Amino acid sequence: MNRGLFITFEGGEGSGKSTLIEALANTLISKGRSVVTTREPGGIPIAEKIREVILDRSHTSMDARTEALLYAAARRQHLVEKVIPAIEAGSIVLCDRFIDSSLAYQGYARGLGMDEVWAINLFAIQERMPDLTLFLDLEPSAGLARIAKAAEREVNRLDLEKLEFHERVRTGYEMLLERHPNRIERINADQTRDKVFSQVLSIIEARLAGIA
Ligand code: TMP
Repeated sequence: MNRGLFITFEGGEGSGKSTLIEALANTLISKGRSVVTTREPGGIPIAEKIREVILDRSHTSMDARTEALLYAAARRQHLVEKVIPAIEAGSIVLCDRFIDSSLAYQGYARGLGMDEVWAINLFAIQERMPDLTLFLDLEPSAGLARIAKAAEREVNRLDLEKLEFHERVRTGYEMLLERHPNRIERINADQTRDKVFSQVLSIIEARLAGIA
């Protein structure tokens, strides 16, 4: 049996993660791989409920530390209930966001400090880090313009933050890229969907060949 692989996708709003994950899953499944797609915050009922609390647009008074703790709580439950069992069963887990989102959004953009947010997340994940992280990099203004056009997409509390917040998120991701060059790969998301897809697929296939 193939060993499982834990792959996470990161990026700002409108960077195209969910469409990409769906296309990758279809292709990998058609090649005979077992694939589990999931997202954070959410992916299982308890974490989806926490997601509703975090992203509710009326929760404007939510404290930044409360927000960080809720993301970490949702992460913990999702990891033990869904991600770890799938990896142990030999699946490739494609997860829309993970710890780097908390480091970039809460740690850097909200100003809580990356090291502080790392500490609470270490408690949550017990060092279960992704094997590979794809960071879909796009100018925040272009990402926000994309989601403004996508009528069916939910508009959540964080989408309502100003452009400067989303620019800080991107800077936070850039800092993470420097810290973890072996785990995180930067992908230029300002290209056609097909180009982004084939670039990411070849990175994943190279990893799979490495562990086969
Ligand atoms: P989504 O729009 O990609 O589903 O993510 C929901 C929002 O939550 C998005 O604005 C990013 C944000 N987020 C954080 O701020 N910290 C986190 O740890 C995660 C997982 C998401």
